[in-house]
Amino acid sequence: MVKSLNRIQGIIFYNPPKTNLYRMFDIKKSIYVGEMSVAKRKDLYIESLNVEPNIRRNGYGKRFLNFAVNLSNKLGLNGNLRVMAGLTANDLLNPPHIFYRKYGFTSDNKEVLSKIDKFIENQIKPEPYDLPITVMYYVNNKK
Ligand SMILES: CC(C)(COP(=O)(O)OP(=O)(O)OC[C@H]1O[C@@H](n2cnc3c(N)ncnc32)[C@H](O)[C@@H]1OP(=O)(O)O)[C@@H](O)C(=O)NCCC(=O)NCCS
Repeated sequence: MVKSLNRIQGIIFYNPPKTNLYRMFDIKKSIYVGEMSVAKRKDLYIESLNVEPNIRRNGYGKRFLNFAVNLSNKLGLNGNLRVMAGLTANDLLNPPHIFYRKYGFTSDNKEVLSKIDKFIENQIKPEPYDLPITVMYYVNNKK
């Protein structure tokens, strides 16, 4: 589908053969960062995304999304992404909606979207169940 090894500015993305998984390694720091699995649909659907707990909030999640936008472009999906944003077993305390929203994702659920925006604007951390599982999507305008 695409090259199994992609090197981008000190970061390697490895796609094990015959999988939809992308594992990130920071080669400058010699660390495993995390993994993302995707599916080709109308948009590139992010099935799961996990950054190792001790290195979260260092920009790696954003780099995964940049990679996903590129992959979506390569697969003829216009750089568009989709995700079901919600708590996962990888982190039961911090809903990821703000992360996606800061990247530029939107949602048709205007009620949840406005809640997310208020949390961002007022710099308030949501409680685990303040934000329900929500379909969010990213429309790439730099096609
Ligand atoms: C969600 C996740 C992938 C984000 O990865 P990350 O490397 O921590 O994110 P980044 O450092 O690139 O963050 C980018 C921005 O989003 C913010 N952000 C990241 N995760 C956030 C969260 N859970 N809540 C609020 N803000 C968050 C960061 O503070 C940063 O903001 P800034 O640009 O204002 O500095 C990571 O926290 C994770 O693996 N979480 C557990 C699994 C999970 O929830 N996956 C998503 C399932 S849909």
